[in-house]
Amino acid sequence: MHKIVLTTFTHFRFAFVGLLFALAVNTTPFVATIGYAAESNEEIALNLATLLRSARAVISDNQKLINDASKGDKGLSADFVVNKAKSNFEKATGKNIDDLPSDGLLGELLKSELSAIATVMNEAQAVINESGVGFKGFLPAIFARQVTEKFRANSGDKADLKLTAPKKYVRNRANRPDKWENGVIEKQFKSPEYTKGKAFFETTPKKGKNAFRLMIPEYYKASCLACHGEPKGERDITGGKKEGGVLGELGGAISVAIFQ
Ligand code: HEC
Repeated sequence: MHKIVLTTFTHFRFAFVGLLFALAVNTTPFVATIGYAAESNEEIALNLATLLRSARAVISDNQKLINDASKGDKGLSADFVVNKAKSNFEKATGKNIDDLPSDGLLGELLKSELSAIATVMNEAQAVINESGVGFKGFLPAIFARQVTEKFRANSGDKADLKLTAPKKYVRNRANRPDKWENGVIEKQFKSPEYTKGKAFFETTPKKGKNAFRLMIPEYYKASCLACHGEPKGERDITGGKKEGGVLGELGGAISVAIFQ
């Protein structure tokens, strides 16, 4: 006799299709990933972070082009960046965002994030396409912050997305970790026992609201050190001061909240 243990579903928002499927088949154990029906908070948060990374990668992959003083129109339109971000996202997750039901929270929030990406790119066109200027200050981390700001403006009642960093490495005060984020960075991510790259999550309030919160650590690569590396205090190309970070060191984190 098969018993469906309901507690298994408590953290899934839309388990009903999977439930029907499990009842109909009634031979195999329930698999939580049937279709897009089962949307756990963890899955939603991870997907929002993955889309941010997928879009930010489009900017890093085109940084040389963006900084090219000899070119005017760079072809980095909102459509171009959105489509590349979608294909990076599909490579990472196996999901096509356009196939997600927009009445589910996952589909709704991903679409809101895509629209934030499009808005940021539309607003950046004049800066990016100016010829005769090399470095324009349009960087992956700045793009990411702008996307999270637009996302917050559109969907801040349901979720929050943020790029943050260890306190001593924060450049832009807007990216400072809050108390919970700082605790995760210092006590989890910096612990020698912590598995590199692993997401950490917890149900804990954010700004007084009940929330599922998740963070993913990010580490300095060689390409980051031109700005975030040594010697500490020296000016980088942006005019900011280098942090003195080293290769492989924890340099930042993506932080997501899903409000309950
Ligand atoms: C060309 C210089 C440059 C490079 C290269 C660079 N960054 Fe940054 N980074 C910045 C600037 C400037 C900011 C501040 C962005 C803002 O205003 O939000 C920043 C912000 C950040 C933040 C947000 C927290 C903060 O300090 O405000 C993280 C995390 C970060 N960078 C990580 C990285 C990583 C990881 C890489 C490499 C993959 C990298 N950066 C490469 C210049 C750079």
